[in-house]
Amino acid sequence: MNPRHILIHKFATTLAIACALTACSSKDAASPATSPPAPAASTQSMKPVAGIKDLMAYMIDPAADFLWESVSTVTTEKGTVENQPRTDAEWKEVRRQAIVLTEAANLLLVDGRHVANEGEQLEDHGLPGNLTAEQADQAIKEDRATYESFAHALREAGVSMLKAADSRSPERMLEYGDTLDQVCEGCHLKFWYPGQGAPAYVPDQAKQ
Ligand code: HEC
Repeated sequence: MNPRHILIHKFATTLAIACALTACSSKDAASPATSPPAPAASTQSMKPVAGIKDLMAYMIDPAADFLWESVSTVTTEKGTVENQPRTDAEWKEVRRQAIVLTEAANLLLVDGRHVANEGEQLEDHGLPGNLTAEQADQAIKEDRATYESFAHALREAGVSMLKAADSRSPERMLEYGDTLDQVCEGCHLKFWYPGQGAPAYVPDQAKQ
């Protein structure tokens, strides 16, 4: 697993990012006065096949890694390389990965999806402070609203990434990359490894 995901994030207190997220997530929390309530069980006709951990391992983690690495500075003995997408093909690939990430966030919201399918465990199963897949399932069941607000925040970070890709802005990709990192970290501190402390970042909706 990428060690970045288990570090307390250094940008956690960046105000601008917090504001951007608040603006994004409040869209999802549209007040009943201004819009009709979402239909209950809107994902009812969907049938989850993979576990949450599979969506993480096969869609969300590789897509996020691609986006983080797309705009990055790598220093080796030979010197420093500034990575950023340049050609049409490279920008197209960034777009593809942003769409995978964003739509995978929607898949996290499908009713009845478990953290792991029966008999499966996480790769780091048994580490002190980590929840087992069953415990994580239980934690999500008990606080579905918080889980969903993190999934919404992930989706919104993905939408921002997509916009950054469409406007071919490495600067914005870097900025939203930090937001993305906070969202991953926040949800994991709540539903995966709560033994490592309280989330530094909690989506606005979850605080209500
Ligand atoms: C809505 C909550 C949520 C968000 C947001 C989230 N995750 Fe996860 N993630 C989970 C849960 C729940 C697990 C499984 C925890 C368990 O079983 O104890 C998990 C597990 C993982 C795993 C381990 C998979 C395995 O096979 O062992 C990886 C890697 C991962 N997430 C990466 C990411 C990355 C990268 C992001 C952000 C781009 C992210 N996650 C965002 C909830 C989330």
